[in-house]
Amino acid sequence: MADRKKVTLPALLKKMTDGVPITMITCYDYSMAHWVEQAEVDMVLVGDSLGMTMLGYEGTLPVTMDDMIRHSQGVRRGSPTCWLIGDMPYMSYQPSDEIAVRNAGRFMAEAGCDAVKLEGGRQMASRIKAIADAGIPVMGHLGLTPQSVSALGGFRVQGKGWEQALRIVEDARLLEEAGAFSILFEMIPDRVQQIITERARIPIISLGSGPHAHGQLLIFHDMFGLYPRFKPKMAKVYGNAGEVILNGLKQYVAEVTGRQFPQPENWFGIPDDQFAELKKMLNGRMTKDE
Ligand code: KIV
Repeated sequence: MADRKKVTLPALLKKMTDGVPITMITCYDYSMAHWVEQAEVDMVLVGDSLGMTMLGYEGTLPVTMDDMIRHSQGVRRGSPTCWLIGDMPYMSYQPSDEIAVRNAGRFMAEAGCDAVKLEGGRQMASRIKAIADAGIPVMGHLGLTPQSVSALGGFRVQGKGWEQALRIVEDARLLEEAGAFSILFEMIPDRVQQIITERARIPIISLGSGPHAHGQLLIFHDMFGLYPRFKPKMAKVYGNAGEVILNGLKQYVAEVTGRQFPQPENWFGIPDDQFAELKKMLNGRMTKDE
């Protein structure tokens, strides 16, 4: 196991002030989190993108709080020292401040998260404030916000025109003022991201929004070629695990069909004397039953 101290909010803020880039990954279960822990990634997001990558939905809207809690628990077990962020799923915070605080509290109490994340601009400032006031660190999410993908007109860059860019810059300030400990920007133009980073006093994290941020986020499945439907432009593929897995599975099918698997090293024997006794007993029983 990697031997590092628990990542804390002061440690993340120190990275920001020292100009050391913060690393962040979205992952979803114990095994992925184990490897993320070994690599000493700072922040891990259990994203509601698990609805697509792990559960096969078309989008994130069907994901429930119980789905998120179960996956967050596994990730926490795999990565005990990261700064763990639970992604609040659709309708777990939109209805009211009170519902938002209750569900944020579940991530902390039931899954051992350090923080939560929610999507949305100024209209979500009161949710951010309520959660932060309850003592729960909360991250904002601006730009492309997948829970509103229909309203945004699809998975596309946000803030290419000056009016929308201005709104995003203002939203960033409002979320910071409301008490967000950090804000994630998904798919906004690099120079808009730069303006926001220069003005912010909290860590700004970029997903497909360029280099001018305090940290970067990628999604595990995109990094390792594990999601079959599409590869977003912003994702860099660091290894094609999907191809390795597919080749292995094809070989397995061929070996079972061709009776090359299993080999003696893949099964377990019984000592000769025990086997002889077993046969004797079975023969005896059969005689008795007959
Ligand atoms: O669910 C997720 O993984 C996310 C990222 C796309 C930021 O919210």
